[in-house]
Amino acid sequence: MDRLSGRRRLFDILFKGLPVGCFLVNERLEIIAFNKAAETLTGWKEEDVVGKPCSQVLRSSLCQQFCPIRESAHTKKSYIAREAVIRDRFGQEVPICFSSSTVFDEQGDFEAGIEVFRDRSGDERLQTLRNHIISIFAHDIKTPCSVTGALINRILAGKAGPVTEKQREYLEVILKENQQVELLINNLLELLHIERGAHPPSKTPVDMGEFIKEVVQEMMPKAEASQIRIVFDIDKRLNRPVMLDRVQIKRVIQNLIDNAIKYSRTGSLIKVKVQVQDNWLIIKVEDQGIGIPRDDLPHIFEYFYRARNSRQKAEGTGLGLASARAIVEASGGRIWAKSKEGMGTTFFIRLPIEENS
Ligand SMILES: Nc1ncnc2c1ncn2[C@@H]1O[C@H](COP(=O)(O)OP(=O)(O)OP(=O)(O)O)[C@@H](O)[C@H]1O
Ligand SMILES: [Mg+2]
Repeated sequence: MDRLSGRRRLFDILFKGLPVGCFLVNERLEIIAFNKAAETLTGWKEEDVVGKPCSQVLRSSLCQQFCPIRESAHTKKSYIAREAVIRDRFGQEVPICFSSSTVFDEQGDFEAGIEVFRDRSGDERLQTLRNHIISIFAHDIKTPCSVTGALINRILAGKAGPVTEKQREYLEVILKENQQVELLINNLLELLHIERGAHPPSKTPVDMGEFIKEVVQEMMPKAEASQIRIVFDIDKRLNRPVMLDRVQIKRVIQNLIDNAIKYSRTGSLIKVKVQVQDNWLIIKVEDQGIGIPRDDLPHIFEYFYRARNSRQKAEGTGLGLASARAIVEASGGRIWAKSKEGMGTTFFIRLPIEENS
């Protein structure tokens, strides 16, 4: 067996045995190979689909907007772990997580497009279960928390007899801790509401220049306490109001500025920029702070997640970014971060521009 056919056999074994769906397409985006897991996921047999355009087989939510393989061929980049919904042979919707890539020959011509995908309905079931457990837990703690808070207030008001100075001191500490737990529970319950779609965005026309100025000004006292400067810059092309949920998006940006202040050193600078790219509004919050370690970066939008280096720097519940993500995604946008430990972090929010027509 020569080296080439040996490689070919190895490829066949790998391709067929992959525990995730995988297919290859030619430059006309017609399927040329379809593995076993792809057959199981879609209900189609390889012989049914070879020669057909992949968009006809998968009928994905993305195929109508932009083809990931075509995009990958155009940019010469691989795209990892995107989400979409496909339809199986029986018309059933299947949520998938997929990666796409293209291979070019030595002359730089398109050789094959590859898509690898897996069923993520299990992830959604797990997430629903997780939200359900958190919600029961939060509701169960909420009542005893408000009852104890009310009782401490009664004792402090002298309703149970005279209170000594020492007792007052201790009771005030207990009340403060109690309020912290109440705040955490309320934030958690609100976050679950947004994720469930119970708070659809309420959009009104917003002048971005005036809006960002207001958001930044409200954060100034906290920044000044650490001698941190905040500057902002708005794209000149944004000369008309855009439709935003003012209250919610303000919360998101303030959350990001709050983090930038908390995780920066005294005397550093925070930049807030608003730019326009095609039909998207890009909001950037950039700091020169402690940065996020590489291993922590993919997890920072998860509930309660806090990076190793931040725990000793500042207090937090680890919910700010989870709610920022829920709000941005409910508005049809995306939020992500780039960071270098010790150098700083930039958060990006991408929101669809809807003008007030
Ligand atoms: N600008 C930043 N610089 C460095 N680390 C950051 C930055 N923003 C977020 N992080 C990291 O991401 C984690 C999650 O952020 P998130 O805002 O969700 O929680 P938090 O700030 O810890 O608490 P809170 O719920 O009070 O906002 C932080 O604990 C921190 O480790
Ligand atoms: Mg935070």
